[in-house]
Amino acid sequence: MSEIKFDGRVAVITGAGAGLGKAYALELAKRGAKVVVNDLGGTRDGSGSDSKAADLVVDEIKASGGNAVPNYDSVSTMEGGKNIIKTAVDNFGKVDILINNAGILRDKSILKISEQDWDLVVAVHEKGAFCVTQPAFAVMKENKYGRIINTTSGSGIYGNFGQTNYAMAKTALLGLMHSVNTEGLKYNIKCNTLAPVAASRLTEDVMPPEMFEKLKPEFVAPLVVYLVSETNQDANMIFNAGAGWFSRSAIVCDPGLVLKDATVESIQENWKTISDISEAKPLGHVNDTFQFMSAALQ
Ligand code: NAI
Repeated sequence: MSEIKFDGRVAVITGAGAGLGKAYALELAKRGAKVVVNDLGGTRDGSGSDSKAADLVVDEIKASGGNAVPNYDSVSTMEGGKNIIKTAVDNFGKVDILINNAGILRDKSILKISEQDWDLVVAVHEKGAFCVTQPAFAVMKENKYGRIINTTSGSGIYGNFGQTNYAMAKTALLGLMHSVNTEGLKYNIKCNTLAPVAASRLTEDVMPPEMFEKLKPEFVAPLVVYLVSETNQDANMIFNAGAGWFSRSAIVCDPGLVLKDATVESIQENWKTISDISEAKPLGHVNDTFQFMSAALQ
């Protein structure tokens, strides 16, 4: 296996002042990438800001001989997103890699979520990923090269208590991935999505201390760094990573069956086949569903 290097590559990592983003930034810089360390430096629930978060990671990269610049914008506005990508272009001439990682939490059970709790979480995770991806896509399209990682969550894909706002916002990242890959295909822009599990301030109160040591963000970073390398040619995939466990999840579609002139009773009668997913496979495009509908369309 040849060593995976990033010499000449420019990476933007949002929320890289701590946790997972910091681990990605350090590893990419170590392997030769020029890095934009974006971080608003606010609290876990999204309030406040502090330039120290990004600065400290930039200092650490520089102290090890790497090349990095800070950016303090919030991902959650179009202006912020543009400025994050402008920081990469102004300092390093382009952007090859974008890791949409910035995140906050406002956990509450469904009946307790306020409009502000919902808006803010969606603004950072969902809108924020779009706000940074759009200007990055423009530069990547021009250069016919791009590697993007979106960060989803097991809470959204599989479910968790007290995270309706977060779960909804995080699964939106899957939609962004599909769109980026469909529109980016001819420009060699590839996007994958990660569902990480790691010890960080976002998870410090939901994980017992003994688990924390085993869930270092550094254990997730190798997969992310591989995915944003030139070596990786796969796109449109969802990966789980944590504690040294790596696996793929997928949204799949089963051929099912065609019931012409279906009635409520015939649905009931065929429920086992309709709800079965034993032959399900991931689809590459919404139009792929037509292959299963063809008998009904004749
Ligand atoms: P973290 O809290 O250590 O890091 C998130 C960083 O994002 C912080 O440094 C924060 O200042 C920054 N940030 C927050 N809002 C921002 C904004 N508007 N603009 C720019 N930066 C902003 O958390 P962690 O665990 O490293 O999370 C990274 C990503 O992974 C998040 O998207 C999170 O939702 C996701 N995730 C984490 C899991 C875990 O087990 N740690 C599980 C599933 C998903």
